[in-house]
Amino acid sequence: MHAPSSVPTLAVSARGVVKRFGELTAVNEVEIEIPRGVCYGLLGPNGAGKTTLSKMIAAVLPRDGGELKVLGLDPWTEQSEVKARLGVVMQGDVFDEDLDVGRNLEIYGRFYGLSGPAFREKVQGLLKFVSLEGRERGPVQALSGGMRRRLMIARALINDPEVLILDEPTTGLDPQVRHAIWGTLRQLKQRGLSILLTTHYMEEAAQLADRIGILFKGKLIAEDTPEKLIAAHLPPWVLEFDAQGQEALLEEFAQAASVERHGDRAFVFHAVEDTLRRWIAKGAFRTALVRPASLEDVFLKLTGRTLDE
Ligand SMILES: Nc1ncnc2c1ncn2[C@@H]1O[C@H](COP(=O)(O)OP(=O)(O)OP(=O)(O)O)[C@@H](O)[C@H]1O
Ligand SMILES: [Mg+2]
Repeated sequence: MHAPSSVPTLAVSARGVVKRFGELTAVNEVEIEIPRGVCYGLLGPNGAGKTTLSKMIAAVLPRDGGELKVLGLDPWTEQSEVKARLGVVMQGDVFDEDLDVGRNLEIYGRFYGLSGPAFREKVQGLLKFVSLEGRERGPVQALSGGMRRRLMIARALINDPEVLILDEPTTGLDPQVRHAIWGTLRQLKQRGLSILLTTHYMEEAAQLADRIGILFKGKLIAEDTPEKLIAAHLPPWVLEFDAQGQEALLEEFAQAASVERHGDRAFVFHAVEDTLRRWIAKGAFRTALVRPASLEDVFLKLTGRTLDE
């Protein structure tokens, strides 16, 4: 079935979007296009502007300039239409701690005019989807950090959104819980939801995102598929080792390869894996490994820092 031509094919499009806080330009002329059904990973260190950009897209913060469309609508001037079609999990979102799990979802549903037996069934279904079945009449206070985050995802799905905005949905969770949430998000993606995901975790972006944007000091400094981002910025293989006391060797490698040093770690990038494997023998390395170049390497090269710095 073909969608009518009036249905926008983009979940989100931003052109020259700007947000200022006094002297600070938190989001600076950002251009983004997120096609429908795509998971877009927005990466950036603390203070890069991820939350600010997400909030403008989520129709909760006005912008100071540029054009922004969500499902073809302006999230500020057509705020309620946009909000009705979005699911949002923002950094720092909270629950009403005095109410039980089910009531929290019911109250949220009322914002969308949802109630009645069919809605109650839906709440049950959503709790099951995020593996919180049987928790409906339990207090929110009794939920672990991971359970809370899963409940937030369930809450964001209450209005059957077309676009899901998740601002660091797994920060602070242990790896096992993080993987469970990735599984949930993958299922949502398969159902055709468009997802904007901000994250500090490279692995999260690599696992879920079809396209990745790197935000740094308010600017979108790179954007592409994960594979193309790596190919555009670095040779495909890297030899990584402890840089301490290896200055002479690093200079030698720099004649034939591209060398980066960040703190105690040295990274030697090269097109040929075997060359790097031979080079391991040149140094008395305590630890050395040859691996494919990663998104983390691209991030480090472009921003000069690791994601969790
Ligand atoms: N309401 C506000 N008033 C003033 N400055 C703000 C406000 N909100 C954000 N900022 C500033 O804007 C910049 C971008 O902040 P933002 O929260 O968007 O970053 P972020 O990429 O989400 O960071 P983090 O990874 O820490 O969540 C920061 O310098 C922040 O201090
Ligand atoms: Mg943030």
